[in-house]
Order: sequence, then C-alpha cells, then structure tokens
Amino acid sequence: MIKKCLFPVAGYGTRFLPATKSMPKEMLPVVNKPLVQYGVEEAIEAGLNEIGFVTGRGKRAIADHFDVSYELEHQIAGTSKEKYLSSIRGVMAKGQFSFTRQGEMKGLGDAILNGKRLIGDEPFAVVLSDDLCVTENEGVLSQMVALYKQFRCSIVAVQEVPEKDISKFGVIAGEQIKDGIFQVNQMVEKPAPEDAPSNLAIIGRYILTPDIFDIIEQTPPGKGGEVQITDALMTQAQKGCVLAYKFKGTRFDCGSVAGFVEATNFVYKNVYFEE
Ligand code: G1P
Repeated sequence: MIKKCLFPVAGYGTRFLPATKSMPKEMLPVVNKPLVQYGVEEAIEAGLNEIGFVTGRGKRAIADHFDVSYELEHQIAGTSKEKYLSSIRGVMAKGQFSFTRQGEMKGLGDAILNGKRLIGDEPFAVVLSDDLCVTENEGVLSQMVALYKQFRCSIVAVQEVPEKDISKFGVIAGEQIKDGIFQVNQMVEKPAPEDAPSNLAIIGRYILTPDIFDIIEQTPPGKGGEVQITDALMTQAQKGCVLAYKFKGTRFDCGSVAGFVEATNFVYKNVYFEE
C-alpha cells in the first residue's frame, strides 16, 4: 500500500519576500504551526509515515523542525511549557524523514523526479504544502488513499475555481465515472481562461504510480520553460488511467499573501485551540 509522501519544498517563496529571504516559506506559521507541519500531519493521518522532502539551498530549518532539539527539550522538560511541543513530538514519533536536494529549479515535474531515489518503485503521494486543506472529517490525502485502493491509478485532487483564477492552475477535463470522480482525458498547465478545458483546477495533492518517473524523464519543458507534472500526467492519462477527485474540504492558497491571511484567520477561529 502507499507509505510514502513527497514534499517538494525547494521553491523560493518570492511572494513573501522579505520574510522568506533567509527563512523557508514552508516554515511561515499559520497561527502556531509552520505551514509544512499541517501537510505532514495530513500525510501521517493517511498512514503515509515515510516523508521525503525535496529541498534546496536555505531550507535547513525544515530538517531541524522535524528533528530533536536537545537544548529545547532539556530546558522545558517537566515544565508547564512542555505541552507546546506535543503536536510536533507526535509527528516525530510517527514519521520518518528523508531529504534530497533539487539542484536547479526546473519545475514541479523535475522536483518530483528528484524524489525518485527516496520513493523507489512504489505508488506515493505528493503534497504541495502551500495548499493548506482543512476538512471536517478525513483529511484530503486519506480520502485519496481510499480511492487509490479502489482504482490503483494516479489521482489528482481538484476543485472548481472561478474563470478569473483558472490560469493559476493545472486544469483537467474528463468523464465523470462516479459522483465527484473523473477519468481524465485532458490536462493543461495554467491555460488562458479561453483555452481552459473546464473549471476544475488541480490543487496540491497527488497520488502517483511509479511509472510517472520514466514519463517525467521523457517530458520536455512546458509552461514557463519548466518540466510540468501536469504534462507528465497527461501522458499517463493517454496511456492508462488518471483520476481527478473533487475532494471534500476547503483549500487555502498559502502561497499568496491574501490566502495565507485567510487561512490564518480560519485556523485561529475554527481549528486552533490554546493548550
Ligand atoms: C502547481 C502545479 C499546478 C497546480 C498548482 C496547485 O503550480 O503546477 O498544476 O494547479 O500547483 O497549487 P504552482 O502553484 O506551484 O505554480
């Protein structure tokens, strides 16, 4: 079954400069937790305990976050402040963390290909931690893992977006085979609104079968001169099966300042509780 989850985290986070000049954008806190921890918690909830990060320069804080801080542990052991470490201790107890580097930023497809040495020949999930997903019950990855068990093919999470936003996303078209589940027959990375095949946008949750690695190797650079996972998935859809899944939950675009603030307000009101 699926055990591994890849987090491409090499991006610069230019939209948050100067905050991200020396700090990874994935470490920006949404209330009291770094953004990336929400994604890792979602993966672990789905039973994906082997977490692989595709990192880059300036991202060491992410590795430190998922490692023991002896000095801190020593200082607060037995004090009333220890409770503040409970969520990260829980994640660290369950997860195993590996890191590899993406030498050059050549696109999301290339980042995922860099993760091949951590994944090997098995199906795996990918989380783009900029997309923070809040659900009432099961997390989005849990929902997708359940679907994978049934269909055994690559799956992308999608949501409907207004026309003005469509060019920010990979967009799919497909045949609805069940309520909210589509067999994909078209995929375009960041189309102009007039070229978009539908209003169903891919958000940052994927389950990929391992043949995707060979396909990415054969995929030429696409939109923006970058190797796009959307293009590789389109090839996979033509050869076999790729599903798009309209997930249950709310997604916040924490890669944009407005989305980040919205997520912060939402989490503070609805998710966070003071320990
Ligand atoms: C990436 C993908 C895009 C997807 C989006 C979801 O784009 O390339 O297909 O819709 O993530 O957040 P990015 O936002 O990294 O430019």
